[in-house]
Amino acid sequence: MSVTSHGTSLAIRGGSRALAGNAGDMFTWPIVTEEDEQAVLEVLRRGAMSATDVTHKFEADLAEYFGTRHVLCHNTGTAAIQAALWACGVRRGDEVISQSMTYWGSSLQVYSLGATPVFAEMEPHSLCLDPADIERHISPRTRAIVSVHYSGYPTDMDPLMEIARKHGLKVVEDVSHAQGGLYKGRLLGTIGDVGAMSIMSGKSLACGEGGFLLTDDTEIFERAAAFGHYERIGGLETQGLSHLAGMPIGGYKYRMHQLSSAVGRVQLRGYDARVVEIQKAMNYFWDQLEGVPGIRPHRPAKDSGSTMGGWYAAKGLYVPEEMDNVPVARFCDAVNAECEGSGFQTRPGANILMHTHPMLNEYDVFGDGKPTRIAFSDRDLRQPEGSLPVTESLPGRCYGIPWFKHYRPAVIDQYAEAFRKVAQNPDQLS
Ligand SMILES: Cc1ncc(COP(=O)(O)O)c(C=O)c1O
Repeated sequence: MSVTSHGTSLAIRGGSRALAGNAGDMFTWPIVTEEDEQAVLEVLRRGAMSATDVTHKFEADLAEYFGTRHVLCHNTGTAAIQAALWACGVRRGDEVISQSMTYWGSSLQVYSLGATPVFAEMEPHSLCLDPADIERHISPRTRAIVSVHYSGYPTDMDPLMEIARKHGLKVVEDVSHAQGGLYKGRLLGTIGDVGAMSIMSGKSLACGEGGFLLTDDTEIFERAAAFGHYERIGGLETQGLSHLAGMPIGGYKYRMHQLSSAVGRVQLRGYDARVVEIQKAMNYFWDQLEGVPGIRPHRPAKDSGSTMGGWYAAKGLYVPEEMDNVPVARFCDAVNAECEGSGFQTRPGANILMHTHPMLNEYDVFGDGKPTRIAFSDRDLRQPEGSLPVTESLPGRCYGIPWFKHYRPAVIDQYAEAFRKVAQNPDQLS
């Protein structure tokens, strides 16, 4: 489409909207068919919601999909990441490096291991952890790094793994946003010591509420199983843990609900085909916006061997310098005026920053008489505003874009036109 929107009135200024009508099922997710319904009914009617047989089958399916030795399903992604970190050796007083702009479930749960998160800078183009900023945050107490493939973009794993190996750190990949995505041809989740992720129903691989971890390392797998799966401990072989049978080490019960396992099995079967269509639709959207000032795609280069997986929580990058310094929130208001009634609304920024949040800097979770972030360490680990300038600029440099589930160029063209029209007319936004 070769629409040029220069000189047209923006909808926020009373002009006509770029979009006509509602996009129907373009954004509906997950796609639920009779197969999902039958799988759920089977578990329900058999009275097997709290059993483990379907979950074991789901784990086998996932192990085959990822080509990995072990998979352990959990009731949430938060739990899977916590168990993975404990299994990697994170203990009281330890530090875990991750990124600040992410869902808190990437690292906040290390508090309950007696450990504390430490945040390194993020890369503005990927919105992932910047490997070049990790080393300055490593201390004798650092045990692990959580790399988040944020909004589907693969973290630059080669330099990150090199740093981790050099310092003897374990790497947990948080794949919650990027199931099926590739880093230089390798499936995300299979590069670090453990992959762990959420597959709650908003995610591109969706089961309801749930998560899982995957690893080739039998010791990590067995420790994670012992941490939150009391019914599995008796069957563990290599860790000398079987005498603990019946009592989970973490004091948690992390078993996946079998209605979720049943849905997950069906969703996984159709997943790759759906991802192919999503990728085609999303790449088409960005191709239409090539060269438009002020906005940039959030996706790896086409010839890099890296992909966005299911493109969960899809983002665009914003360059205010090319937009007369119009704030991203104003840009989003104008896009929303173009899209009103279409079923899509953008919003500025992404997840709230963790490192400046009072929960990390002020709150005393365990009654130590001081903020937990300090209580768990021998030094003040708080990271005040100004400590991560690149990360702190990112909420002003990104926004949500439509997450298309179907390749329908005529519909996608209209959304691209909404973004193009606003980006080409910053003078109407002041
Ligand atoms: C990046 C990321 N990590 C971890 C989680 C935690 O997963 P859950 O909500 O299943 O506990 C989520 C979100 O749900 C997430 O988006």
